[in-house]
Amino acid sequence: MEHIVILTGAGISAESGLKTFRDSDGLWEGYNIEDVATPDAWYINPVLVQDFYNQRRKSVLEAQPNAAHYALAKLEEKFKVTIITQNIDDLHERAGSTNVIHLHGIITRSQSSKRATLTYPIEGWELKMGEKCELGSQLRPHVVWFGEQVPMIETAAEICSMADAFILIGSSLAVYPASGLINYVPNDIPKYIIDPKIPPVHGVSNLVKIEKKATAGLPILVARLMDSF
Ligand code: APR
Repeated sequence: MEHIVILTGAGISAESGLKTFRDSDGLWEGYNIEDVATPDAWYINPVLVQDFYNQRRKSVLEAQPNAAHYALAKLEEKFKVTIITQNIDDLHERAGSTNVIHLHGIITRSQSSKRATLTYPIEGWELKMGEKCELGSQLRPHVVWFGEQVPMIETAAEICSMADAFILIGSSLAVYPASGLINYVPNDIPKYIIDPKIPPVHGVSNLVKIEKKATAGLPILVARLMDSF
């Protein structure tokens, strides 16, 4: 069965009402990313960081998957599908996708601040200061911050190298190592980018650029893929 590999960024959740990172003059919900999404920020002001992610989690829980998320879930009726997402929301899963790799973690889980591999589900929107892991350390959001390891990147690169088709949706490709994944995709397979502002990609062959929003561009592409194979 053909294996379609999809890399998504914040743009696919934009039409669900979740802000992107670099669309609104570089601020994320009014904050410099560096002030809330780095280990230093957590060390200096854990309450600010915890509250910031609690607000983000509340928005994620209130958001609904959009037509683009559902179109990707539909691909599973006919293809082996792997979604590699940079997003920390769970909208792919809630739309029905069953094989999602969260490169940058997922906001609905917490992690030990002593051992990153210890993670726990978060009930509701709020993770409180004082909630501790089994080792006794404060729980933090299970999110990869700037400067931290991206544990799944090797797995993701391996998966990209085995794709029969590749779709990039809603990412500015501004953040490495996720932005380097497109270079692992075989030259000779069909690749698609869906974004109202196509990011700069160089030396990528067999590339179709669909300069549209995700909910406009993706259902058409999915219908074409469902008919063509
Ligand atoms: N449909 C499709 N794409 C869209 C839409 C939409 N409706 N609206 C915006 N976009 C595109 C923008 O044109 C841009 O290319 O989504 C992209 C958003 O880019 P970023 O805000 O940089 O988000 P992303 O690429 O996911 O950021 C990567 O950076 O801050 C870190 O860890 C964070 O995972 C994030 C990473």
